[in-house]
Amino acid sequence: MKVIVVKNAAEGGKQGFQVFKDALANGAKVFGLATGSTPISTYDEITSSDLDFSHVTSVNLDEYVGLGPDHPQSYNYFMHEHFFNKKPFANSYLPDGLNKDAEAETKRYDKVIADNPIDLGILGLGRNGHIGFNEPGTPFDSTTHQVKLTESTIAANARFFDNEEEVPKYAYSMGIGSILKDKQILLEAYGEEKADAVKGMIEGPVTPDLPASSLQNHDKVIVVIDEAAASKLS
Ligand code: F6R
Repeated sequence: MKVIVVKNAAEGGKQGFQVFKDALANGAKVFGLATGSTPISTYDEITSSDLDFSHVTSVNLDEYVGLGPDHPQSYNYFMHEHFFNKKPFANSYLPDGLNKDAEAETKRYDKVIADNPIDLGILGLGRNGHIGFNEPGTPFDSTTHQVKLTESTIAANARFFDNEEEVPKYAYSMGIGSILKDKQILLEAYGEEKADAVKGMIEGPVTPDLPASSLQNHDKVIVVIDEAAASKLS
């Protein structure tokens, strides 16, 4: 893992942009994307640049079950607001939150991933060490699956909804096994509340108890963190 410590998320966005730009220059055709607050500064840098990525594809990590593209808290809506409406890819894929047939949807999405192998995957990090919606205990060889969200993730996401009851209880997520197939990974994490997860990811044992520790098994990972997120590293 290459670890880059920056002052804040704004600086991290510049680093993230550089990683995206280099991947594109090296011929990357497919980018894996995350939602959430973390990658926004990177997406802002990318969408306000003059980079031409109109020929490449994006594949998102996850989506809430039950929320469609018109729901303001769906990840599909988020991606349009923060990325695709500003500067689109040739093709963009997300799990379909409105497909209630979990088996069919997870199979369909695994085929999307198989048909579009990810060159650079951009990840955030949950406070409990999750990546995508792969919560602690998820096997490292998992493929796309329906996830029952943990109480801590529901509580963390409640800030985006009027109240906690409205937060969906399930999501579709790319599995850890699929993420580990990304040719290169950029993981960003900002803020003190991520410091424990960052320490476990970088220094801790490789264990399903901390899903991001699986990235120690990948040979091309760049971690961009701010000083607060790095504060517990030895
Ligand atoms: C979102 C995703 C999640 C987030 C993580 C951190 O697509 O995959 O793993 O990256 O929950 O969320 P933020 O960035 O909001 O702290």
